[in-house]
Amino acid sequence: MALSARGQQWARLSSDMLIWTVIQDLWEPETNPNGYISLGVAENALMHDELTKYIHANIDLPSNGLTYGDGGKGTKKLRAAMARFLTRKLNPVTPFEPSQICITNGVTSSIDHMSSIIADPGDTFLLGQPHYGAFIPDIELRPGTKVAQVAFGDVDPLSLEAVSAYERTIESCKARKQKVAGLVLCNPHNPLGRCYPREYIIELMKVCQKHQVHLISDEIYALSVFRQSDPTDESVIPFTSLASIPTDGLIDPALTHIIYGLSKDFGANGLRLGCIVSQHNQELQTALTTVSIYSYVSSLTDSIATKLLSDDGFVDWYIEENNKRLQAQYELVVAWAEKHSIEYTRGVNAAFFLWVNLGKTHSKSVQTGKLKEKEVDSAKKLRLRRVEESANEPAEASTGVDAHNDAGSDIDTVVNDALLEQKVFLASGVQFGSEKPGWFRIVFSQNPKLLHLGLERIERALGLSE
Ligand SMILES: Cc1ncc(COP(=O)(O)O)c(C=O)c1O
Repeated sequence: MALSARGQQWARLSSDMLIWTVIQDLWEPETNPNGYISLGVAENALMHDELTKYIHANIDLPSNGLTYGDGGKGTKKLRAAMARFLTRKLNPVTPFEPSQICITNGVTSSIDHMSSIIADPGDTFLLGQPHYGAFIPDIELRPGTKVAQVAFGDVDPLSLEAVSAYERTIESCKARKQKVAGLVLCNPHNPLGRCYPREYIIELMKVCQKHQVHLISDEIYALSVFRQSDPTDESVIPFTSLASIPTDGLIDPALTHIIYGLSKDFGANGLRLGCIVSQHNQELQTALTTVSIYSYVSSLTDSIATKLLSDDGFVDWYIEENNKRLQAQYELVVAWAEKHSIEYTRGVNAAFFLWVNLGKTHSKSVQTGKLKEKEVDSAKKLRLRRVEESANEPAEASTGVDAHNDAGSDIDTVVNDALLEQKVFLASGVQFGSEKPGWFRIVFSQNPKLLHLGLERIERALGLSE
């Protein structure tokens, strides 16, 4: 039975999402010794023991947990707890109110909602490169909107100089009669692990006001900031929430929105809890009331999150301890990169990623004879191109200023294949719209034993093992 064109496109995309293959075949010493080690999925396992213990000790499902509760936006208790928690942590200009918050089953759903609500099919969202890979499907797939990637060339994407590239992209969209509805910022940045300077956000607010573009700040890593400053690395920037900057004279506050969730700072991807915080846009809140039924959070998650976020003592300890552990893991992975002369981004102080140039290291190993040069098989190249083309298919109404990244260079494919051959999975820069070939994202928040094993496998893939 034929599916819709949309259904067929989704079916095609699914078969090429390697991540789902990998997570069904993960390494486990007893039961699956030949499985993959994943340092590719943005999960933080460093506090799993503590959080599961806390959940078991505190779970308390009220009898109305078996009803539809207070509606799709989350219970009143959870929205109040989230408002209080975020007010304590994000330093907003005005305290958050429960009525300004819509709870969703993960930030993924928050982004999907925002795309549908602020843009019409064919309208455009801007994403600076590189960016969290799944932003593209989250923004485009169901709402039928388009992403225009913003390229920075040799300019640091988090430097003030980069802001003008957003405005140039808006102008070229306008010249093509393409409406730019929104700009999604990820602060702290995935995959770069850095924070945007306050002045950068201010300049972006001005650009968004000038062109009447919604500014959505995905702050899902807001509390995973493990170095506030570093005398040896001046590029370390403290975190600033969009909500903490007064909008007066800069932007209509109705154009500003924050997204948050428990997946990253609490290492709890599986609980599926996110939220949209929009303080000054009542119509958006009303629209969310209508669609929130599609992102209902389970009452179990709702009640656990309410308890957790109301427990200031535990939360404050948890965040501090998590950041200590992230710092230790960060130091470990940086020392490893230094030891092997692997190029990596500086200024990392947040999230749990190191962005590394494995392409360069691989090429060096080929030149020095430590690795044999490999041909990229042309069928694979073709397959990658097809994925890209189908991802662009709904583009009929609007083509996007920059076509999404091409299928990646040979070196991306060669390194990716070499990693998979050694049964280690990393996210490739190709999925993140990296402008430069050969870059990969190492997630360093797995438990230390797994991280060591993963790094050893990367060494083998790159011809670095002694
Ligand atoms: C920047 C960013 N936003 C959203 C998500 C998805 O979050 P959730 O698990 O809440 O859907 C991720 C997960 O990697 C992410 O890195």
